[in-house]
Amino acid sequence: MTDHLLQYRSEFPILDRTTYLISNSLGAMPRGVYDAMQGYADTWAMRGVRAWEERWWMLAAEVGDEIGVLMNAPNGSVSTHQNVTTCQAVVASCFDFSGKRNKVVYSDMNFPSVMYFWEAQQSRGARVHMVKTDDGITIPLQRLLDAIDETTLLVPISHVIFRSAFIQDARAIIEKAHKVGALVVLDTFQSLGTVPVDVQALNTDFACGGVLKWLCGGPGVGYLYVRPDLGNKLKPTFTGWTAHENPFAFEIGPNRYTDPPYRFMNGTPHIPALEAARPGLKIIADAGIERIREKSKRQTGRLIDLATKHGWRVNTPRDAEQRGGTVSIDMPDAKEVCRELIKREILVDYRPKAGVRMSPHFYNTDEELEIGIGAVEEILKERAVAVR
Ligand SMILES: Cc1ncc(COP(=O)(O)O)c(C=O)c1O
Repeated sequence: MTDHLLQYRSEFPILDRTTYLISNSLGAMPRGVYDAMQGYADTWAMRGVRAWEERWWMLAAEVGDEIGVLMNAPNGSVSTHQNVTTCQAVVASCFDFSGKRNKVVYSDMNFPSVMYFWEAQQSRGARVHMVKTDDGITIPLQRLLDAIDETTLLVPISHVIFRSAFIQDARAIIEKAHKVGALVVLDTFQSLGTVPVDVQALNTDFACGGVLKWLCGGPGVGYLYVRPDLGNKLKPTFTGWTAHENPFAFEIGPNRYTDPPYRFMNGTPHIPALEAARPGLKIIADAGIERIREKSKRQTGRLIDLATKHGWRVNTPRDAEQRGGTVSIDMPDAKEVCRELIKREILVDYRPKAGVRMSPHFYNTDEELEIGIGAVEEILKERAVAVR
């Protein structure tokens, strides 16, 4: 069977040098980023301050639309920010936590930065309700749904869990939230680019994530989708001149909000990161997320089979429909094994309560999975000999 997605391998220089199984952390850099960065420098060098008018001012919205297309978000509904934590702060700043509806519901499998942010909002009146995992892999859906009640304001949850790659039932959570008048902030960092996301079909209120993992866009670009009918009503208090109706009038006094996406932005945008993000977004759009997903299910399945054969604990759902692009394998001495794999140019990572995370993407060959697992076997054998 020909794997057409392998045609993109030559676009990613690091694939010639390493076994790159870490796209859940940092996607490989497309070679087009060299030109994008050169273009950025040339624009700055040659056009100087005119660059704002000619290119840079519009870039944040253009890149927002390029991300939006991948999750069926209408044009103009996605703003760009530095990271997910900032996106959560922008959302939080649209709401008042002093009333009865001040509960924030999420699970302990959320990404910690997001939890640290919401924990800190308790000083602003937010009441945090955290639903605990039973098995370290999944989140009990019914318990989460039951926690969402008439006093719930926001439900900031991960679509795919970073530790285990468990896919949450976003549709059920959004439906329950809407039934009781709450809003959902869906973190699609670990889904968009490897698992299909359709923000309109899901009817989520907000979606956020970043481009540096599965979208191969590099650090420095987070994205925030706001449901269009909400977008024109909300007034983020974490705001600034970019969100003003007439930013270059430099008016004194309160902000007169412009329309989305700039309505949700604040200060000077992160131009170099936006430029660097574009080549990856283009490749992902071209490769097609449905095709990427099919390959991912097959390759993660293969990794699980290999790990199971060796008797290592797999902290990722075995059901392909419940699992994103990562397989977390907790073999003995996983942290040290991870360090040794990296020394051998097999790039993976280690997370406590997860193990070694291996994340094949559309550009990985099947042989690379065997190389990764074979190296773990070898390292464990060597360690066993060393302690004897
Ligand atoms: C689900 C999820 N959310 C958020 C983040 C990161 O948040 P931030 O962009 O604020 O660094 C990560 C990983 O880095 C993640 O896996």
